[in-house]
Amino acid sequence: SRGALMQICRSTQAMRDWRQDAGRVALVPTMGALHPGHLSLVTRARDWLDAQGGGRVVTSIFVNPTQFAPSEDLDKYPRSEAQDLDLLAGAGCDAVFLPQVADIYRPGAQTQVEVTGLGRMLMGRLRPGHFRGVATVVTKLFNIIQPQAAVFGEKDYQQLTLIRQMVADLDIPVQVLAGPTVRDADGLALSSRNQRLTPEDRVAAPVLARALDRAQAMIAQGTTPAALRRAIRTLLAAEPQGQVRSIDIRDADDLARIATLDRPVVILLAVRFGEVLLIDQRVVHP
Ligand code: PAJ
Repeated sequence: SRGALMQICRSTQAMRDWRQDAGRVALVPTMGALHPGHLSLVTRARDWLDAQGGGRVVTSIFVNPTQFAPSEDLDKYPRSEAQDLDLLAGAGCDAVFLPQVADIYRPGAQTQVEVTGLGRMLMGRLRPGHFRGVATVVTKLFNIIQPQAAVFGEKDYQQLTLIRQMVADLDIPVQVLAGPTVRDADGLALSSRNQRLTPEDRVAAPVLARALDRAQAMIAQGTTPAALRRAIRTLLAAEPQGQVRSIDIRDADDLARIATLDRPVVILLAVRFGEVLLIDQRVVHP
């Protein structure tokens, strides 16, 4: 089977060597702790390759230290390598790139990639330096693996938008593909962070998805950004243990502020339950 042949590359050199004869490649960058949301991106990559006439899916698993602030406790990021490899083999992934931190970040490096607008707004304001770490590691993954396409989840909508901008700005020859958000039956977007919710908070957490459903219905009936934001805030207050961190209604293409709901918009929510910050998003076409 495909899974039995899955190649595991633990160094940049091993990855480059495998890539030499791999033909067309689609990359799925991850930090591991894989769940069905990640695996759906592997399927998305496979479908794209099939439509192109075939190729290999590479998944990278690298908990990227430069996108975590010192306070964010990189060490607590969940790791489940053996299970991740089983899941990827089962999903039909052809190769996994699992580099060491010292192989990716060598002493003396001086170059970083910063998307100045999209990287500093919204979550970038909440997490200074985060998107610089993301843009830099994704550029390095692109250069090491040289994929024709790379798949990112809509779940992290600002990240997806920022990668598209970076690829356009720097003429990177990679096609950026988006995968829809995979959810639990009650609507909660799958995330490795969900494991850290208390049972009570897990019950409350689907309020984000419900608020997005209602917001979408309100846009269909006609409303203003200000009224929409007020309505979302009221809906989220139904679960008072969730602390609303941000409600943003932005242009779906460039995340610019908007005055009227006359074009595709994205609604971006961030709500904190205990120590766990949950995010969710919905693109709505008027
Ligand atoms: P990570 O959080 O592991 O996510 C890897 C990819 O899976 C991202 O593109 C993310 O948007 C997508 N994803 C997460 N949850 C999803 C869900 N429920 N449905 C669909 N897709 C989902 O995002 C990162 O890693 C890192 O920033 C990375 C891009 C790998 C750079 O280090």
